[in-house]
Amino acid sequence: MSKNFYATTPIYYVNDKPHIGHAYSTVLTDVLTRFHRLFGFDASFMTGVDEHGQKVQKAAAAKGVSPQAHVDEYNLHFKNLWAKLNVEYIHFIRTTDGYHKDFVRDVLQKLYDKGEIYSKEYSGWYSVGEERFFEESELVDGKDPISHRTVEWLQEKNYFFKMSKYQQTLIDYINANPSFIMPDFRKNEVLGFLKQPLNDLCISRPKSRLAWGIPLPFDEDFVTYVWVDALVNYISGVQNFKHKDGSAFWPADFHIIGKDILTTHSVYWTTILFALGWQQPKHILAHGWWLIDGSKMSKTSGTGINPMDYVDNYGVDVFRYFLIREMVVGLDATFSHDSFVRRINSDLANDLGNGLNRIHKLILSNFDGKIPAVAGGISGSSWGEQEKELEGYSAKAIEFARANIGEVKLSLVVEEVLNSVKALNRYLEATVPWKLSKGGEAEHEKLAVVLYAGAEVLRIALALLSPIMPQKCEVGRLMLGAPIIDENSLRFGVLQGGETLGKGEALFPRIVEKTEE
Ligand code: ME8
Ligand code: MG
Repeated sequence: MSKNFYATTPIYYVNDKPHIGHAYSTVLTDVLTRFHRLFGFDASFMTGVDEHGQKVQKAAAAKGVSPQAHVDEYNLHFKNLWAKLNVEYIHFIRTTDGYHKDFVRDVLQKLYDKGEIYSKEYSGWYSVGEERFFEESELVDGKDPISHRTVEWLQEKNYFFKMSKYQQTLIDYINANPSFIMPDFRKNEVLGFLKQPLNDLCISRPKSRLAWGIPLPFDEDFVTYVWVDALVNYISGVQNFKHKDGSAFWPADFHIIGKDILTTHSVYWTTILFALGWQQPKHILAHGWWLIDGSKMSKTSGTGINPMDYVDNYGVDVFRYFLIREMVVGLDATFSHDSFVRRINSDLANDLGNGLNRIHKLILSNFDGKIPAVAGGISGSSWGEQEKELEGYSAKAIEFARANIGEVKLSLVVEEVLNSVKALNRYLEATVPWKLSKGGEAEHEKLAVVLYAGAEVLRIALALLSPIMPQKCEVGRLMLGAPIIDENSLRFGVLQGGETLGKGEALFPRIVEKTEE
């Protein structure tokens, strides 16, 4: 199995500032990449911005600035948010970058030379308001059915990609590669869509209608349709990158996207790749919506919660934790202040934070701030049934993570890790180390076992949560005096005894609401 990993996020439109939906896609991709790195992969991801097209041209015009000035300013809102959210991408692509524009033109020329692109006169009812054509049958009282504005009969030439030609190839490919489109119900949705005859894809816009785009290499009176421009980023952006073993980044392991852009990825992009004779990405994963009070956030409706607020108020790591724990990948999830507070307080303050503070304090006061050694080690006679059971929870969490990151079941991975922490807190209630510490020599020996077991469970939990909360888990690791987090550290019994604890910190303070007594 290849130990290389390359993932992508959508490249976002810079028509407005980012919101939690964009934050989620990017954090999810970052976490997935970090999990692969933890399990020994040479793993990276790319993100960026989609700077051409109608939406961006319109946003710039509304502000009275040039599109270039607008994108130069707005791409920074995304870059700054990613820095703040501690996402580590290998490259941030802007579709106005020169190398990208050259690459797109090369791709189009290649398709043109292969006979995959033709031009045709097209006529239809065009709505200036909606900036698109409508079928006669779609009109309502002779007006456009969306903005109810007048339409005009327009005849124009455009260029088309022979997408229809690849319909059966695509159907066969999806059927032969069951995990190509994830989750399964999205794959079925695409297969359903492909039961209708596929049209060819209009890949141009006349410059007279839209100037802000990449000119077609074979007809400079036209610019490239923004989706063709955008999809190509996944390859143009990493054309010069190599994995440590010298292999290329393409094909990507994962395109992480939202469900709104499933068709453009699984039909437009895939058929373009077939026509080029290039490899398909390994997986296209469509996640669901973050909803606020049951409705979808969007930049254009202006109702988005600004993720920056939650990051500023509660910290980046707990924000990342909430996103990953709360959304089952593929399904919708609701963001609410109450669910945020409840989740952070129960999982992080009560379970993980509490366990960590207990163990840290008890080792500090009973073993001089050094991890106690267990006589005979974890295979010796002092390692009893209770300890073996506890060890089993950690082992299960490690195995579950290893087996499930490939399917991006991250909320379930977190659940397994938290189960091990909950088991630890139950174990502490049962073994009552705070009483053992007042006993004699036998009790002191048992206390060493209990605190060692506790430190190991926490060390492993922190390692497994480190892709989600890199900073907090690193502080926690130092508190335990544990060696660096890597693939090797993912087993029980890494601590030897004698390691010096770091300074204690309230790593996950409880969120106390003003309304609480
Ligand atoms: O579509 N919940 O860009 P875009 C979860 N430029 N995710 C959400 C979301 C929500 N409520 N709202 C948005 C584009 N997203 C194109 C993409 S890719 C070659 C070109 C996320 O700015 C989700 O990932 O409209 C969705 O697919 C993406 O933002 C759309 O971002
Ligand atoms: Mg959108």
